[in-house]
Amino acid sequence: MLLRACSRVRATVVRIDLGRCYSSGRSKAALRKSKAPHLPVMTTETVQFLEPKKDEVFIDMTFGAGGHTRALLEASSGVTVVALDRDPHAHRLACEMAVEFPGRLIPVLGRFSELPALLRTLDGYDRQRYFNGILFDFGCSSMQFDEASRGFSIAHDGPLDMRMDKDRCPEQLSAAEVLARIQEQDLARILKVYGEEKQSKKIARAIVNARLTVKRIETTAELASIVAHCLSQGEPSVSAFEYRQDKLRRPAHVATKTFQALRIFVNNELNEINYGMVLAKHLLRSGGKLVTIAFHSLEDTIVKRHLTGHVVDDVASRVPLQLISHTLAHETDTMQEMMKPNWKQLTKHVVVPTEDEVADNPRSRSAKLRAAVRLS
Ligand SMILES: C[S@@+](CC[C@H](N)C(=O)[O-])C[C@H]1O[C@@H](n2cnc3c(N)ncnc32)[C@H](O)[C@@H]1O
Repeated sequence: MLLRACSRVRATVVRIDLGRCYSSGRSKAALRKSKAPHLPVMTTETVQFLEPKKDEVFIDMTFGAGGHTRALLEASSGVTVVALDRDPHAHRLACEMAVEFPGRLIPVLGRFSELPALLRTLDGYDRQRYFNGILFDFGCSSMQFDEASRGFSIAHDGPLDMRMDKDRCPEQLSAAEVLARIQEQDLARILKVYGEEKQSKKIARAIVNARLTVKRIETTAELASIVAHCLSQGEPSVSAFEYRQDKLRRPAHVATKTFQALRIFVNNELNEINYGMVLAKHLLRSGGKLVTIAFHSLEDTIVKRHLTGHVVDDVASRVPLQLISHTLAHETDTMQEMMKPNWKQLTKHVVVPTEDEVADNPRSRSAKLRAAVRLS
């Protein structure tokens, strides 16, 4: 296979001793699963849709802890996977796993939006529509959610950071820095749009008031408590977890939507997803497969709009292209070219995890998988 890792990546590879796994008497796979820092979702379905075969090249756009990448590599010994992640911690894990699959796993550190430039640095990458399959497993990994120091967690107090890239991108603001500067109206809009938070104005006002009267909000516990206090006014005895239910009727902390909104804003997640879907169109060969796994409707809606061709100027649009033609002054040929479908969906509806998988891995329960083939 032509692709080879750039030297920067090779230099950071760390050897791990998997041979020792056998000595415990448990199977290698079971031991790995029990220790996995993130349990991959719908792995069997993902591999079935992507159908990896000898000499094919895949790109895992969201390596995380590498569960899906491993499944692809193990499905066929001739498969190569380029493993992208913006998180330096995930990238380190990819470099470690690369040792197990010499020449077949190419770790790349960066965001979807940085990928075109990164691909040009890989030896042997010579043309746009190179890949046989692309996988997106959107959102945060369990490592990001569970590690207090990453600042994503309501349950574990830590610095209010939320940057998936850690310190890799000096221009990126942490959640604490965003809250220290943002105007109340803008914050309310972010909470409403990215968090689908009905009380967005009230929460934005409470955060801005806290900033003016108390101090800079520095920790996840401080933010959670400001939101809980503002929403429980009049009912101070109600626990923050009992106060609301999520869409699946699970008890959720009242600040969950605020955290989701901030995380999406800090990491520019939805624009990244839109860009990722544009890239997928350019990177996949004709007949190449796409699998996406989304965890909330904002992510899934962007995917759906791309797959169904509701995209204007490469931006996922609320309005189907054919219905906004009166505002577009294109020639008929151009219009027809724009409306040519790029994708054939492989599933009529989204695929969701089995009950067994949800019982094993409760975090999988809001996952929605879509699969499609790139048309010529
Ligand atoms: C849900 S986890 C993926 C888990 C992975 N499939 C596994 O099996 O372990 C999502 C990962 O995508 C990464 N990610 C999210 N947005 C990204 C982006 N725009 N560019 C690159 N990586 C991104 C996150 O850092 C995180 O590690």
